[in-house]
Amino acid sequence: MKLADRTTRIVPSPTLKVSATAKTMAAQGIDVIDFSAGEPAFDTPDFVKEAAHSAIAAGFTKYTPASGIDELKRAICDKLSRDQGIQYEPSHILVSCGAKHTLYNLAQALLNPGDEVIIPAPYWVSYPDIVRLADGQPVMLETREADGYAIDPQRLEACITPRTKALILNGPSNPTGAVYDRKTLEAVADVATRHDVLVVSDEIYEKLVYEDTPCMSIVTAVPEMAGRTLVVNGVSKAFAMTGWRIGYAAGPQALITAMANVQSQSTSNPTSISQKAAVAALHGGTQFFTELLDDLTPKRRLIVDALNAIPGLTCPTPAGAFYVFPNVSGLFGKRHANGTIASATDLAAYLLTDTHLACVSGEPFGSVNHLRLTYTPTIETIQRGLTKLKTAVQNLS
Ligand SMILES: Cc1ncc(COP(=O)(O)O)c(C=O)c1O
Repeated sequence: MKLADRTTRIVPSPTLKVSATAKTMAAQGIDVIDFSAGEPAFDTPDFVKEAAHSAIAAGFTKYTPASGIDELKRAICDKLSRDQGIQYEPSHILVSCGAKHTLYNLAQALLNPGDEVIIPAPYWVSYPDIVRLADGQPVMLETREADGYAIDPQRLEACITPRTKALILNGPSNPTGAVYDRKTLEAVADVATRHDVLVVSDEIYEKLVYEDTPCMSIVTAVPEMAGRTLVVNGVSKAFAMTGWRIGYAAGPQALITAMANVQSQSTSNPTSISQKAAVAALHGGTQFFTELLDDLTPKRRLIVDALNAIPGLTCPTPAGAFYVFPNVSGLFGKRHANGTIASATDLAAYLLTDTHLACVSGEPFGSVNHLRLTYTPTIETIQRGLTKLKTAVQNLS
């Protein structure tokens, strides 16, 4: 059978692949420590589960409007008004099966073959492949660790061509944890407006910002950008609801309608029960985020300090999300029993095979010098993992 060419342009999500390997190893009885998952370790809050139980009991188990139920769209409008200070009508909202699906609908609705999407690197692994699946062309915009991965407006402008359709912003970022400050967002807005580029603002980690780091949406910094921005968000990370598959977009009505049409011919509606659960989550107040941040804050300190204490590694303190992105290039050229560490991918493979430590190479995130580790496991697990990592590095010669 000859498959479609587009299937040869993409790879399975590398993060999901490492997580699946770690789970298989654990099922075989191997004591694997998993730093690869992209989700909170917390359970979904009880009040959200209760809303789902009530939906089932009430028979809310049939098709819904393809673009999502009005009650959820209104809850999303309230959230965006409350948190981002921007007023949207329900007709500007599309509810999808996770933020990843939102981005997939966007690419299908926006891109013609060869259209370009600018993606600041390091980036979330799925952005380039979602663009490629729509026959679009990802264009990587390099950012530097030394600059806190900030976007340089001049370098951004240099990436723009007549084929540029969109720019993806992701703050806090997966994998770096970096956030964009107001000045950067204003400069990006200026470039996007002058070149008629859509900004896709992926705000999925918005609630996970530490200390007093200011973190804002581009539509908050520059309200006029609402007409050329697609805000993308969801309940996966903020409410520990990764399995419920609810994401959403807010943006220009014509784009939202086109995305909704794509969705209506693919998944139809997002799950009815999950939509009711998401309504409860969005009405649920801020208590859950406080608990999540109280849990993650000491873990972030622990892992950053421990990584910086290992010779050959350097690790900046991330401003948000729940990942660290240490630079491991100081270990390149070192040897172990079965070979040499020439890249972050070699190091990740060595750690998984020899030490049973699962973390993801920076390579699919657009950085050959880094590893991505998630610090959502328990403190004890993180400590055990760090001890294993230290020993594995000491064993290199
Ligand atoms: C930056 C970013 N955006 C979007 C998503 C997708 O989230 P979901 O599809 O679970 O809503 C993820 C998940 O890891 C992510 O890291």
